[in-house]
Formats: sequence, C-alpha cells, structure tokens
Amino acid sequence: MRILLGVPGGIAAYKALEFARLAVKAGHSVRVIQTPASLRFVGRASFAAITGAPVLASEFEDDPSKGSWPGEEPGLHSPISHLALIERADVYVVAPATANTLARLASGSAEDLVTTSALAAQCKVILAPAMNGLMWDNEATQANVKTLRAREFEVLDPGAGQLASHGEEGTGRLVEPHEILFAAEASAAGAEKALAGLRVLVTAGGTREPIDRVRYIGNRSSGKMGVEIARAAKQAGADVTLLAANVAIEIPSGVTLIRVETAQELENAASSAFGQCDVLVMTAAVADFRPVGVPSGKIDKSQGTPSLDLEPVRDILRGLAAERAPGQTLVGFAAEFGNGVDRAEAKRASKGVDLMVYNDISNTEIGFDSELNEVTLLTAEGRTAVEKQTKQAVAGRIIQAIAELRAS
Ligand SMILES: Cc1cc2nc3c(=O)[nH]c(=O)nc-3n(C[C@H](O)[C@H](O)[C@H](O)COP(=O)(O)O)c2cc1C
Repeated sequence: MRILLGVPGGIAAYKALEFARLAVKAGHSVRVIQTPASLRFVGRASFAAITGAPVLASEFEDDPSKGSWPGEEPGLHSPISHLALIERADVYVVAPATANTLARLASGSAEDLVTTSALAAQCKVILAPAMNGLMWDNEATQANVKTLRAREFEVLDPGAGQLASHGEEGTGRLVEPHEILFAAEASAAGAEKALAGLRVLVTAGGTREPIDRVRYIGNRSSGKMGVEIARAAKQAGADVTLLAANVAIEIPSGVTLIRVETAQELENAASSAFGQCDVLVMTAAVADFRPVGVPSGKIDKSQGTPSLDLEPVRDILRGLAAERAPGQTLVGFAAEFGNGVDRAEAKRASKGVDLMVYNDISNTEIGFDSELNEVTLLTAEGRTAVEKQTKQAVAGRIIQAIAELRAS
C-alpha cells in the first residue's frame, strides 16, 4: 500500500518517524512531505533514511524521485510535486496534526504541500491530532475537527495523560504510531468497520478484596487481554467503555475509562452500564470469595495469626445474563487449569452467554502476565481453536467472532 505521510510542526513529530518505520516494516511504500514548521522539529534525513525516498517540504521543490514511490522506477518527466504524490497514494496520513494544520485544512487552505495534498486527495485522509490540552479543548479546534469529520476526514481521537511537552498533561496526546497504522490499513482496505455503531462494554484486570485497610486478596490478571479487546473494538468502530479493575497498563485513546477496585465496585459499574450496551465482554478476573467483617484499620500481627472468614461473590456475568435484553451479545472468559474446555462449555451453556473464550492457565507460556494467549472460542455452534499468538491478534479474532455472531 502507498502511504503518503504529511508531517506538521508539533512536538510529537518525532513519533511520525516511528510511524514511518512501522509502516515500512509492515511492507508499505511510504513517501513523506513536511510543513516548513516541522523541519524545526525533525529533519528530512531521518524520514529519507527510514523510507528510502526523498522528502519534500515545499510545492516549489523538484522531486528527485519524479513522483515515484519506493520500489518503482523514477518517471522520465518532472511531475508537479504538489499533486504527484497524493494522486497515487492509497491513504494520506497527517501526523501529528497540529492545531494550525487542522485549522488550515478546515478552511480549505492550500499554502503548503501538506494542505495542498489534502485538498487534492481522492484517497482516505487520516488526521492524528497532537497538541496541548487547552488547544485541543478550544472551541475553535473542536469546530475545525467537527467540520473535518463532516467532510469525511478520519480524525483520530487524541489520548489523555502525559503530553510530549515537558510537564504537560491533558487530552491532546498523539495516538500511538501502531494505532495510526492500524487505522490506515483498515481504511485503505475499505474495511467495513465490523462493530460500527455498537456500544461495547469491556471489563479488564483483576479485582482486589480487602482483608483490612492495607491488605487484599487479588489475582494475577494484568488486564492486557481486556485492554486489547477494548482497543480492537474501538478500531472496529464501536463506542467502547472499559471497566478497569486495577489495570496499570496504558488505556487506548478514545475509550471511556471507569476504574474500579473490588468485585462489588465492578458489579455496580457493570450493572449501571449494561442496559446501554449492545455487547458485553467480561474479561476481568473477578474474585470468587471475599473476606467478611473487614476491620477498619490494619490487623495487628502481635495479636496472633488471624483467620479469615470468606463469603462467595455473586457471579456478575450470570446475573447480567439473566437481565439481558433482546439483541445484546454476551461474551465471557473461562480461565481453567488444565483440560478445562468441557468445563468452560458447561459454564457457557449454564450462564447463557453467546461466546465463552476458554484458556488453559496451567500453560505458563500464555495467559496471565504474558504477551501471548491461546484460546478456544465456544459458541452454541461449536468450538474454534485460536492458535498461540499476541493478545492483540487474539483480540482481533474475538472481535471478528462477535461480529459474526451479531451478523447471524
Ligand atoms: C516547542 C514547540 C512545540 C509545539 N508543539 C505543538 C504541538 O504539539 N501541537 C500544535 O498544534 N502546535 C505546536 N506548536 C506550535 C506549532 O509549531 C505552530 O502552530 C506552527 O505554526 C505549526 O505549523 P504547521 O501546522 O504548518 O506545521 C509547537 C511550537 C513549539 C515552538
């Protein structure tokens, strides 16, 4: 695929280098054009070295490659630079899209190569904004984003948290380069977004049940699998809410995040959000038992070894399944220790969920804390084995299975 990368002048321009590197590594042909301001942040030499093609920063400049893309023979004639590259691009990505470039694009300005290319684009244009939180929240920027979205530009939601500028926090962080690449690949393929228009509720992580005010009973779930499902659902076009129980990893941008700690908090949050969702994916590892009579302070060890009284925790998925409305799709996870596929299938049937994702936690190469997972997808129709691969790839398979279930 031919990706034209337009680089405006923002502090996150260095991340455009990583985007270019990932795109080239994935086998795409990449050409880069820069705004004059961006040259003050990253030079052409790095982009040229990564892409193996010259970089242009002005429409009055001749293209040494005469409009060709890496891997092609240069043309015989000098084409008009400001139109040649965009004419044959499969997708045009502008990253980091500065407030200034968003404003110029919204007004239809054509004052440099980056904006001119957008005006002449016949392919999908993806804008990945990055700026200070106040600049992003400003009414003018928000109006420009609205205008651009109405004109079929795909404007990716920036992330929240620490920004690239020293000491700054807020909304305005550039979407991670691999997510921009995913968006580029999906849109260029003309991929119908599998979960477009659906509201997906995902739970992730592991609950903690207090023993006293300091200690708790927890489990080893990192939340990676649930976070990847939230990311994949978002990329598939869904409106995603993530209920994160003690998750310490980065949350994908554009996902509504609700943090919880205990099984009770998770149940409360899930119950209040369940009525508004089309798909529920219960990935979180929820405690089966919790201590009762939790003291308000810290148990004093000089008083001897305490004994814990435990009570069972209500099964959240079973409870929600009993209240489900027609049209809701429910997905559960069953972590079983060794050869548990039949137990997982029995859980699927008895809880009344549409898809149960089984994994064998006795296998130390997959599951908790691992980057990898290997699962079996269980539905009323049968079993599908998903071989060992990254949790990101497994999440993609689960989203695909959900889309198939909804289509049927
Ligand atoms: C150190 C520094 C960092 C900047 N970072 C950003 C940024 O992250 N986002 C942004 O919208 N503007 C940022 N700006 C302002 C832009 O560089 C400025 O608006 C410029 O005119 C953008 O031009 P362009 O959009 O044509 O590349 C920054 C400026 C400086 C000096």
